[in-house]
Amino acid sequence: MQSLNGKKALITGGSRGIGRATAIALAKEGVELGLIARSEESFEVVRNELTALGATFVTAVADVSKEDEVQQAIKEIEDQLGGIDILINNAGVGVRGSFQELSTDQWKKVLDTNVMGIVHVTKAALPGMIEKNKGDIINISSMSGLKGTVGSSAYSASKFAVVGLSESLMQEVRQHNIRVSVLTPSLVETDFTRGRDHEPNPEKFMQAEDLAEYMVSQLKLEQRTFIKSAAHWATNPF
Ligand SMILES: NC(=O)c1ccc[n+]([C@@H]2O[C@H](COP(=O)([O-])OP(=O)(O)OC[C@H]3O[C@@H](n4cnc5c(N)ncnc54)[C@H](OP(=O)(O)O)[C@@H]3O)[C@@H](O)[C@H]2O)c1
Repeated sequence: MQSLNGKKALITGGSRGIGRATAIALAKEGVELGLIARSEESFEVVRNELTALGATFVTAVADVSKEDEVQQAIKEIEDQLGGIDILINNAGVGVRGSFQELSTDQWKKVLDTNVMGIVHVTKAALPGMIEKNKGDIINISSMSGLKGTVGSSAYSASKFAVVGLSESLMQEVRQHNIRVSVLTPSLVETDFTRGRDHEPNPEKFMQAEDLAEYMVSQLKLEQRTFIKSAAHWATNPF
């Protein structure tokens, strides 16, 4: 197991849900953080929590689907933290509806955020990792990236793409000592799942903290191989 103390992590969608829980968990390990989200207000809670922990962190407002905003935000974060060792591509949006109900604009928004968002952020952060000959990238897919279900064609297509992108990238960058992992979690109780057609069942939904703890344990592993992790409960969450 390696210590994470002093490492620098960039988390997209770091203001709420899984990203926020991961920021807290990494801060407790002594990791310095750069957090990206679209709205300044959404950082308020995590900012107070990280300050209370005495963490070193910076926040940047950017929409991951917009390449120019991403480049600017990552430059600011790299300058302030002095580089990025760990990239967690977590920002994502969902959309529910049958294929016939979903408009092409809804498809584009999901693909631009969930797939092109990872492309934009990784393109901006990867050169620094290659230069240091070291890095960790964790991409958050979903169980919808392994199996399509009714009402999730656009989301599922985006999350399948994340798995494929991750598998290819790992093989391309392992020569630079960069480990790429992809997680395919089942339902997690966050704003993302609250208020949908099924309310979170606390006995069957994972908590964001469970996933954050899992990521910390993966990052501590010394092995530099591709990790394709399920990270879901064995039970059907419904
Ligand atoms: N919750 C689940 O059941 C579940 C299961 C499997 C996988 N996942 C995946 O896990 C990831 C996080 O989900 P979550 O449940 O934590 O969602 P969440 O609670 O809705 O939080 C999403 C985070 O991403 C940010 N974000 C959204 N769109 C963005 C964009 N275009 N650019 C920058 N930041 C953006 C949000 O902040 P702003 O709104 O301020 O931008 C927020 O910080 C997603 O990729 C999701 O697909 C979730």
